[in-house]
Amino acid sequence: MFVNLGLVGQPLQHSFSPFIQTCFLKSSGINGGFCCFETDGGESLKETFLTLRQYGFKGVNVTVPHKQAVIDIVDTLDPVAETVGAVNTVRIGDRLEGFNTDAEGFERMLLDAGYDLSGKDVLLLGCGGASMAVLYVLKKYNVRLTVVNRTLSKAEAVLKSMSFDNVQLQDYNFIKGDSGFHYVINGTSIGLEDGNFPDMNRVECSCASVDLQYKKGLTPFLQSMRGSSCGLLDGFSMLVYQAAKAFEIWTGVYPEFSVETISGELGLS
Ligand code: ATR
Repeated sequence: MFVNLGLVGQPLQHSFSPFIQTCFLKSSGINGGFCCFETDGGESLKETFLTLRQYGFKGVNVTVPHKQAVIDIVDTLDPVAETVGAVNTVRIGDRLEGFNTDAEGFERMLLDAGYDLSGKDVLLLGCGGASMAVLYVLKKYNVRLTVVNRTLSKAEAVLKSMSFDNVQLQDYNFIKGDSGFHYVINGTSIGLEDGNFPDMNRVECSCASVDLQYKKGLTPFLQSMRGSSCGLLDGFSMLVYQAAKAFEIWTGVYPEFSVETISGELGLS
């Protein structure tokens, strides 16, 4: 049997998903292919899913800008997608089933690297859409959480929507003073354009610093955390782990992979 998989979003020309999913097909010994479908929102998005079903596609990843709009197209939502308010994976069968694998991707990336979040002190920078999957996991592990966000009212709304109480909410003056955490996580888009990140010298991190961003070499945030004696994980690992969970949802097989090998083959390391 040939397994048709794909990606729906716009634009897609720089996506690493086709390469990553093709690695999984190979390592799992599954005969299949992965196609990109650039599509507008609204009726075009609905038509895309009807066509994918007609052509026997087993599943697709969904990326920007359609992660929220797809919620209205799928027939069912898994609890994570419902809480986080975004779908990044759809299983196509008699019904369209929406999932969010970002949260499990984040969790599994840390577990596989030997980290345990249970009851730990965590600093989360940024509280927008990308941080919501992280918050889902942090809540599960009952962490002691401090959130730093530029716009405190936006962070308050996100934390409320996820019923996350018992959080210290701070502005960026917080990182100008001495503090210490087991984990420091960057969920902001700071530095994406100019490569600059606020000075993190006064923030000690003892376990791992995790950035949801990725690029060739160290991201601006991870560069600023290099002084701490902690592990450094970037968003490429999370991308691969969320992709692996999506692959498992479509095929029933959790693939074998090495993030370092995939990243090397893509010229990122
Ligand atoms: P995404 O879906 O990528 O998370 P988002 O929902 O717009 O995008 O969230 C981006 C995050 O980066 C937010 O926490 C945002 O802070 P605000 O809530 O104040 O907007 C943060 N962010 C982006 N640019 C920033 C900057 N220059 N300084 C500080 N925070 C910034």
